[in-house]
Amino acid sequence: MKSILMTTALAAIIAIAGVSSVIAAPAPTTGLVPEKVGNFQLTDTTRLAHELFYFNYTPAIVVMSQSNGSKVSREAAAELGKIQAAYKDKGVLFYMMNSNLGQSRDATAAEAKSQKFAMPVLMDELQLVGEQLGIQREGEVFVIEPKGGFKVAYHGPVAETAKAIDAVLAGKSVANPRVDVKVGSTIAFPERGKAAEHANISYAKDVAPIIQAKCVACHQDGGIAPFKFDSYEVVKSFAPMIQESVMSERMPPYFADPHVGTFKNDHGLSYEQNKTLIHWLRAGAPRGSGPDVLKETAGKAPEWPTELGKPDVIVTLPEFDVPASGTVEYQNMRIDNPFKSDTWLKAIAIKPGARSVLHHVTSNHSPDRGSAPARIPGGSVGSYTPGAEPQVIADGAGAPVPGGGKFSFSMHYTTVGKAAADQTQIGYYTLKSPPQFIKRSTVISDFALKIPKGEARHKEIAYLEFPADAYLYTLYPHSHYRGWSVELKQKTPDGKESLLLSLPKYDFNWQRDYDPVEPIHIKAGTKLIATWIYDNSEHNKANPDSTINVTWGEQSFEEMMYFRVNYRWADETVSNVRNDLQVKLMDSRTIGALDNNADDKVQIDELTGTMASVKPRFADLDLNKDGGLDKKELEAGNVSRATATRDLRDADIDL
Ligand code: HEC
Repeated sequence: MKSILMTTALAAIIAIAGVSSVIAAPAPTTGLVPEKVGNFQLTDTTRLAHELFYFNYTPAIVVMSQSNGSKVSREAAAELGKIQAAYKDKGVLFYMMNSNLGQSRDATAAEAKSQKFAMPVLMDELQLVGEQLGIQREGEVFVIEPKGGFKVAYHGPVAETAKAIDAVLAGKSVANPRVDVKVGSTIAFPERGKAAEHANISYAKDVAPIIQAKCVACHQDGGIAPFKFDSYEVVKSFAPMIQESVMSERMPPYFADPHVGTFKNDHGLSYEQNKTLIHWLRAGAPRGSGPDVLKETAGKAPEWPTELGKPDVIVTLPEFDVPASGTVEYQNMRIDNPFKSDTWLKAIAIKPGARSVLHHVTSNHSPDRGSAPARIPGGSVGSYTPGAEPQVIADGAGAPVPGGGKFSFSMHYTTVGKAAADQTQIGYYTLKSPPQFIKRSTVISDFALKIPKGEARHKEIAYLEFPADAYLYTLYPHSHYRGWSVELKQKTPDGKESLLLSLPKYDFNWQRDYDPVEPIHIKAGTKLIATWIYDNSEHNKANPDSTINVTWGEQSFEEMMYFRVNYRWADETVSNVRNDLQVKLMDSRTIGALDNNADDKVQIDELTGTMASVKPRFADLDLNKDGGLDKKELEAGNVSRATATRDLRDADIDL
């Protein structure tokens, strides 16, 4: 063991120095390869996530270590591409993986494009997967067999890969399961030589503080997680599960791609924290010396969020009994507005009565009948989805609540096999004097979505065009069980695009606001484009039904394509109210939902899902006969979500 480590360390140093590894006495590349691979999730160069265990239905998963700009790696990639083509119909998955420090995702994306790679390249940025697989150089192939518990059935050069796949497909063992890879530059894994140091990572000084900062808020008494991390013994007993949940990016539940945007409420592990935790776990989670910080500080989750304290006003909604099974219609609960005069909110926190069954809450303020219209109409007075945190409005701004009238809450419950009673409370935090700016919000949605049955990665886009300059405060994506990944980008009037948020893997169980550290300036004429990818295949374990074409709908078995943004208009202040801009923003709602290729026109095949009923009218609607419906033509033809839904009642349309 020792000699392998030393040679590897030497190879690493040589690789760092940029010297070709041919000079170094090559270590056998098979020496570090494990019997089995633990679960992991990595993001590819197109920002889609791939989780190893998701693919448990495939006969084999082939992964090749790849480096940018290297002749050997490129030749190996080309050869592997040919094998992939030959096994096209066999259900074998092919990947490359880049574990090189200093080879960025963008650089690797460029390499993938220039070399026309036929398979995704996974970015092993923390090297934790490469370390686990024992990768030493480029061009090493791993054939992983899910059926055998993700066994490494073969490790060796591309040249013998087809033979290995054949054996796996035939249910036989591979004749030469470990073949030394002798060509190609080594890939430096600086942590590999540090096994002794990893065994010395201090639980007390290094690990417990990470768990305290990133896990305990939920994993404590009164927290939302099913168990608490309140001592070394608990952490140790969960060690394999912690490793699995962190490597597969399920825990902590924060899913924004760290390369896109920076967010105030970023609860992810930093790269360093992630590596420290995993290296410590892989070293056997040693206790070491020092006090047990988790035991000493174990507490109870506060009733209301610590950072906000006790709300100024708490409302308690009526109790609702959720049955054990079946579908529960949305429950509408109306209460008197607790604020008698116009009020500004700075934060709202929702405390579900029964988290297991409360799926989501939306709300709005409605004025009393016959009352004069409010100077600034009210909007949501609190919303909740699983994993939600309190909604805190950006400094300088407030959310208006006109005095009087009613608060209506739409409560969505899901049944979980056990009856439960929910009584939800909402805490309001008010501003003592009017703010400078008004928090506004809008939703980018695609009510024309249609997700074909069985399709594993179906893409939909929708946009809204901002008629005036604005500053974005909050980004909030929402879909149901089939949502796989989501992005928001802006396209400025000059055609330039930039990403604002990317969730390579969306998780229905964890929906939350992403608040940019600095409000994002959006220029007039900019489109905010949301892209959703849906997994309507049977392999999506959360999918309620993979055998149906899915269209827009509010129930969880239907689908949503929904992206809320909170913002303020650049020119709007409390003394210069611009309700007109809110109205103007909605001008692009219909075209933004339908126009899937964002070319400012709706082609006939973009009329899908609930909007398919408009198809027979297409020729009449296309006044200038250019084959597309622009914003004006859609307006002239009165095409909207409401009209389409009405048409649908009689139409015999394939949904
Ligand atoms: C925002 C709340 C929250 C935070 C923060 C959080 N967890 Fe969890 N955790 C949960 C909930 C809820 C569950 C149970 C449901 C589930 O698995 O999603 C859970 C389950 C788990 C499980 C067991 C099931 C599984 O998914 O593997 C492990 C292990 C775990 N968490 C580890 C961690 C670690 C380690 C951290 C910190 C790095 C962490 N959690 C941070 C809420 C949280």
